[in-house]
Amino acid sequence: MHKPSLLSLLLLTSVLAYGEDSSRHYSRAEAKQRYTRPSSIPFPKDNAFTPARELLGRTLFFDTRLSGSGWISCASCHNPSIGWGDGLPLAIGDGMKTLGRRTPTILNLAWEELLFWDGRSESLESQALDPIKAVGEMNLTREQLTAKVQSIPGYKPLFAAAYPGEPVEPDTIARAIANFERTVVSGTAPFDRWIAGDETAISENAKTGFDLFNTKARCAVCHEGWAFTDRGFHDIGVPGDDLGRGEHLKLEAMQYAFKTPTLRNLTQRAPYLHNGSEPTLAAVIDFYDQGGKARRPSLSPELVPLKLTKAEKAALEEFLRTLSSVDAPVTIPVMPH
Ligand code: HEC
Ligand code: HEC
Repeated sequence: MHKPSLLSLLLLTSVLAYGEDSSRHYSRAEAKQRYTRPSSIPFPKDNAFTPARELLGRTLFFDTRLSGSGWISCASCHNPSIGWGDGLPLAIGDGMKTLGRRTPTILNLAWEELLFWDGRSESLESQALDPIKAVGEMNLTREQLTAKVQSIPGYKPLFAAAYPGEPVEPDTIARAIANFERTVVSGTAPFDRWIAGDETAISENAKTGFDLFNTKARCAVCHEGWAFTDRGFHDIGVPGDDLGRGEHLKLEAMQYAFKTPTLRNLTQRAPYLHNGSEPTLAAVIDFYDQGGKARRPSLSPELVPLKLTKAEKAALEEFLRTLSSVDAPVTIPVMPH
């Protein structure tokens, strides 16, 4: 007997959800339920949230003394006033050298399992020291980092309050930074007020954009849930030689694959994509409308020409703009001395 393969089942499901007559199956009310915000932030047991840890982590995050040059902090690139990115196509690090990829936002990472565009890091704790020691980024060795932070007396009470009994060393520094980073969550946006029942929170055109996002434009296949990411890796056809996840996994589908970014607060951090190659949201929508730009075997099967009309593209963009929140300003602590 012929059993349907997993692939044919998957194809069938996507045809049912996104096929020509998908409007018959699609319900806006049902779609809305998939985007409800979580009520709390997950923290690992061995690095539970405390206000003292958050304060220490926030202080370290903004401290330029954690770099070889003395003028680069995490916030130089992950700047809260630019959606926790830097607004540049490609990041600029130590010695003003241009790096190979764009700075991603650090919003909503508490829910992520794999970090970096290529997923090479497995936790915020293990990630935090990478940019400090990276020669191209902050360029400070583990030993120099330890010596530097230990030489600042004002840090002593902050560490004692946050991690009592633990030495002032790189692993503790990393834990504090990770604790703070988990608190960096996008706030309530007009979209969330609409989901919660306020029909006046977004325009009718944006609601049409939401429908398109979930049906004809196929966006929700990858940008799913309240943070608008499946936290997976896909080749969406961005031209370039960067193999992304493919550098770490030999699977064909992972070649040129990059992590699906959150779409929250998008309007604050143009340009877009891992190499900053699309300058505006309208350009990103045109990019998807063409089914991506680079045709290669690893291209996601979801990337097909969408044939969106001008009005549909405008509605989609108007919807994306409802995902931005006006968050309370971040307090930059006075640096300890
Ligand atoms: C010179 C600019 C620069 C500095 C300084 C910098 N970063 Fe980054 N950050 C980047 C870039 C570029 C990437 C993406 C690199 C990649 O994916 O290969 C990144 C990625 C990340 C990620 C992964 C985000 C994700 O979505 O997976 C986190 C978390 C992060 N940085 C935190 C930090 C912390 C903490 C510091 C300070 C200790 C820091 N960064 C300093 C540019 C910078
Ligand atoms: C196959 C999965 C997939 C589909 C379908 C998809 N995306 Fe993406 N999206 C991604 C990935 C992966 C990236 C990052 C790719 C890169 O930078 O190389 C991305 C990046 C983006 C970005 C840039 C975000 C940033 O911070 O740089 C926007 C905006 C975006 N997508 C919107 C959309 C819209 C709108 C649609 C529907 C028209 C859509 N996406 C469909 C996976 C997908």
